[in-house]
Amino acid sequence: MRFDAYMEWCLYDPDIGFFASTATDVRSTKTGDFLTSPEVSSEFGRALGRFVAAEHARADIDAEFAVIDVGAGSGSLLRSLGETWTGQAVGIELSPAARESLAVDGLGGMSSFDAFGSTITGVVIANELIDNLPMAVVERTPDGWMEHAVTSQGGSLSTIRLEPRPEVSDWADRYAADVPIDSLVEVQLEAGVWVRDALERLDTGALVVIDYGGTSEELSGRRSRGGTIRTYRSHHLGPDPLTAPGETDITADVEFSALMDVCREAGAQVELTRQDEFLRSWGLAEVVSGLRQEELEAARAGDTMRQLQLKSHRLDAETLLHPRGLGDFRVLVARK
Ligand SMILES: C[S@@+](CC[C@H](N)C(=O)[O-])C[C@H]1O[C@@H](n2cnc3c(N)ncnc32)[C@H](O)[C@@H]1O
Repeated sequence: MRFDAYMEWCLYDPDIGFFASTATDVRSTKTGDFLTSPEVSSEFGRALGRFVAAEHARADIDAEFAVIDVGAGSGSLLRSLGETWTGQAVGIELSPAARESLAVDGLGGMSSFDAFGSTITGVVIANELIDNLPMAVVERTPDGWMEHAVTSQGGSLSTIRLEPRPEVSDWADRYAADVPIDSLVEVQLEAGVWVRDALERLDTGALVVIDYGGTSEELSGRRSRGGTIRTYRSHHLGPDPLTAPGETDITADVEFSALMDVCREAGAQVELTRQDEFLRSWGLAEVVSGLRQEELEAARAGDTMRQLQLKSHRLDAETLLHPRGLGDFRVLVARK
């Protein structure tokens, strides 16, 4: 099995898939497997709600302007976004457990984009979705690219090297041509297909992709150190992806240069920023200083409980801006 087929099986197989199996709970929660920005602080969704309201004003149209959160997880983003955006907002989820959680709160809970047809007016959001889409892996050898595949020998899984498929080596030549011998490159063709499809469905509005990763230049050093494929389980880095298929979240840094090319080829205008810059531009710095001020006032009034609540809220909001943590995520905005 080529690595992308293996990753698809591990994450999305209806019986064993980490996200798709009916046996699993919602993964992106405090008691689940990883913590995402909307789970860390409600200020993430509020800032995005202000962004959506500005996009609506910018589009200057009377038609219904909707937010569609793809891979909406528990619905935290949609709930907090609803505090600053009063229009329609719904979620799409592949995981049955997450869909149930969304449906309970009237946040949609469809399993695919198909429910929306091809004339979306509004903002499509994908927060930490793209890093889970199946990707191929190639290795630079003295004889050129070799593609990784997974094989079963004597009851355990191991990696073998095959001649790369032409579309895989073309992508690697385009986005990782100058990496040294032994580098590993995650080839993110599925991510490009997903972004192209989302932009084709978008009539007027914006697609917002938020994830860890960077441009080709930024990822180059990580490729020469063994690539960025990793797993998560119960809030910790997990074992090698071949160790426990279906039991871990397999992920890698998102290659944003390739996604920007797809957006431009689809006729969209593209902006790429860091999450800390994006959130500051949508008012998070003011929110943090307002909370600090309220904390001081609560301290002066001797209201220790309120002071502690405000402090906890402020620290969570500041976590979104951490320059080597969530603040280092990238935000791609593609407008049509
Ligand atoms: C890392 S979680 C992020 C959840 C949420 N966006 C958040 O920020 O908390 C990724 C989510 O995407 C969902 N997912 C993965 N692939 C999907 C797809 N192709 N379509 C819809 N949902 C998908 C998974 O079930 C999972 O809940």
